[in-house]
Amino acid sequence: MSDNIQTVTVLSKTTWTPNLFSFTVSRPDSFKFTAGQFVRLGVNPSRLKYYTEQSGKSDADISDEALDEDIFRAYSIISSPFDEVLEFFSIVIPDGAFTSQLQHLQVGDELLLNTLPFGFLTLARYQKPLPKDLWLLATGTGLAPFLSMLQDLKTWEDYEHIVLAYSARSLEELAYVEKIESLQADFGSLVENPAKLIFIPIVTREPVEGALTERLPRLLLDGTLQARAGIDLDIETTHVMLCGNPDMVDDTKEALKSLGLVMNRRGEGNIAVENYW
Ligand SMILES: Cc1cc2nc3c(=O)[nH]c(=O)nc-3n(C[C@H](O)[C@H](O)[C@H](O)COP(=O)(O)OP(=O)(O)OC[C@H]3O[C@@H](n4cnc5c(N)ncnc54)[C@H](O)[C@@H]3O)c2cc1C
Ligand SMILES: NC(=O)c1ccc[n+]([C@@H]2O[C@H](COP(=O)([O-])OP(=O)(O)OC[C@H]3O[C@@H](n4cnc5c(N)ncnc54)[C@H](OP(=O)(O)O)[C@@H]3O)[C@@H](O)[C@H]2O)c1
Repeated sequence: MSDNIQTVTVLSKTTWTPNLFSFTVSRPDSFKFTAGQFVRLGVNPSRLKYYTEQSGKSDADISDEALDEDIFRAYSIISSPFDEVLEFFSIVIPDGAFTSQLQHLQVGDELLLNTLPFGFLTLARYQKPLPKDLWLLATGTGLAPFLSMLQDLKTWEDYEHIVLAYSARSLEELAYVEKIESLQADFGSLVENPAKLIFIPIVTREPVEGALTERLPRLLLDGTLQARAGIDLDIETTHVMLCGNPDMVDDTKEALKSLGLVMNRRGEGNIAVENYW
């Protein structure tokens, strides 16, 4: 195994829906990261209790490839850089090589963690002076890096307004709403403007009170998102980060460009993105 790979232990698991769950793992002492970064997590069925003890499954039920190889996938870290544990938010793709195994995770199981953090969807990428507003736009599990940033007081101190718009298909898939509300209360009480974080839930496949229903690009193009936030998007005043579904990232990028915003390159410009597949 490479020097960068360490074994971590699963400490907790939260199931949101049959296709969405979160879990925490132990954090190696030496592992450092910046809010917004991702790591590579590795799984091998032979390390999961589900396969070895509980389900009656034997090695014969697991493909040779799965047993021979640790499978690694990129995962954004939800935790703040100051937390003692590492939290992750995962989709389950029933025939996905990684998540078809990961879904069986139990407390006490072991995963592999490549301790080299990756990724440039971090607030450090933006050159100073910073503009006043930060917009964080996510679909599905793409919420993860933004939760990490929002647990860092510096994010709250650096911007006048922070808008978090988070889109899921159904209400039950809109995970972490209570966590977002508690961040609003906790970090809001530490800064001058307690209403700094404006949370805009979007549920696209069922009507939900208080949530918008259209997709992000349309909400931006017709001004609904800006009206809900109570602030406008402007090349001089706005940083925007997009994370999640690559189609959402592409379509939203185009919508933002048509509103006059530009991609962030070498620190300058408004828009930064991360695609999950
Ligand atoms: C930078 C980065 C960060 C990522 N962070 C996360 C994360 O925090 N949480 C997470 O669940 N996944 C994350 N992913 C996706 C993750 O790496 C895997 O793709 C996912 O675990 C599925 O793996 P799989 O082998 O089961 O299926 P794969 O073969 O990897 O994917 C099969 C298909 O499933 C769909 N898919 C994959 N990931 C997702 C997803 N997250 N949400 C909705 N549909 C998806 C796509 O259509 C994809 O083509 C991230 C990917 C990247 C590149
Ligand atoms: N969610 C499930 O129940 C489920 C179950 C099994 C498997 N999966 C698989 O998981 C994958 C994704 O599931 P997911 O629901 O987490 O992610 P998703 O399809 O990316 O949906 C999350 C949110 O992103 C929105 N979105 C999708 N494309 C967009 C675009 N171009 N612009 C703006 N917004 C966009 C969706 O709106 P819309 O509703 O308008 O698309 C939804 O609100 C799919 O491949 C799916 O087959 C999902």
